[in-house]
Amino acid sequence: MNLLDQDRKYILPIYKRLPLEIVKAEGMILTDQEGKEYLDFYSGIAVHTLGHRNEKVLEAMRVQMENFLHLSNYFAAPSAVTLAKLLVENSFASKVFFANSGAEANEAMLKLARKYGRSIRKDKVKFVALEKGFHGRTYGAMNLTGTPAYREPFGEALEGITHVRINDVDGLRSAVDQNTCGIFFEVIQGEGGLREMEEPFALELKRLSEKFDALLLADEVQTGLYRTGTLFAYETLPLTPHAMTLAKGLGGGLPLGALLLSKKVEHVLRPGDHGSTFGGNPLACAAGAAVLEEILEKEFQEKLKVKMDLFLEKLKALQTRYPEVIKEIRGRGYMVGLDVGEASETIREEAMKRQLLLNITGGTVLRLLPALTMEKKEMDRFFLVMEEILSTWEGRYGSE
Ligand SMILES: Cc1ncc(COP(=O)(O)O)c(C=O)c1O
Repeated sequence: MNLLDQDRKYILPIYKRLPLEIVKAEGMILTDQEGKEYLDFYSGIAVHTLGHRNEKVLEAMRVQMENFLHLSNYFAAPSAVTLAKLLVENSFASKVFFANSGAEANEAMLKLARKYGRSIRKDKVKFVALEKGFHGRTYGAMNLTGTPAYREPFGEALEGITHVRINDVDGLRSAVDQNTCGIFFEVIQGEGGLREMEEPFALELKRLSEKFDALLLADEVQTGLYRTGTLFAYETLPLTPHAMTLAKGLGGGLPLGALLLSKKVEHVLRPGDHGSTFGGNPLACAAGAAVLEEILEKEFQEKLKVKMDLFLEKLKALQTRYPEVIKEIRGRGYMVGLDVGEASETIREEAMKRQLLLNITGGTVLRLLPALTMEKKEMDRFFLVMEEILSTWEGRYGSE
């Protein structure tokens, strides 16, 4: 039996697998068992910020493995302190809580906001979140998630959550009131088709948050850590969150999530209120600290900005040549969606035949999440393959 057959036999089949057996990953290249090399635009779904098996990350892990792997949260771990210090010194936060995943970090943020609300008034426990937002698969995070199909199979909803459309200022105004303890949002909706929050909506968020003392809760699990061209995506908006979650790229390929807390809320969760056995695992934190140290380098950021500008410029040129296929470019930096309508599956298949791996989100959007370390020749290869597919589009598949 090959790997995929065994996978189907033994692992709960809830994921759509690609028909590939990958045996090695390096930078942006995945190699299958026949030695065929694929250019990876998944990056482990925005996990491999510095590409697969980045040497600095591996070295930090080796050093940590020589010392210890897990001690439990009865012990302070130097790598966790280093990573938390980097996060605090480079954000609005004054404290960090470490979890193992994005969903878990969001659960912590949910508990934080409810406890904050209850400290003001017993029934100040309601949330506003965004339609098409995605916050994870645990019960609380799932209920905050704005796609009903993810929630409905599981029966009764968690009470007091209202979803409003991103950028619907009036909808937001009518949803937030004095019993709202927090507003969950993504600045760019990663799973929801790369929709981006606009300034008038952000200004209204800020105003309502101040008026009703509702916490601004940013989920930067996917957008954080320079993926969108700034360390955190909210930095381009006229608001500062009271709390924010990170995960995905944070652990350098290992499971790690974080809740960053501002001074206003750093005293809300007390000993006994929350915790995790593995949260802040020393190995994951060592890997994460290596990632942070790299992406915080000025030179890294300057180079990245040039590459991201070039990427967008080339995407726009591609859209200008093929407007009938590429209907819209959404997102920012290296978190970009190409809305190609019903062509998405075919383009993905054609790209795979040409050894380019593309992800789809929201059914119609090609989600491009290259490593921040993408080299010029890798970017060129992406555009070459796209050009090859799109230039023969009408002739080979008929127009839509
Ligand atoms: C914005 C956002 N929040 C939360 C999550 C959940 O993270 P995890 O899968 O690590 O639980 C995701 C995952 O895709 C995400 O994109």
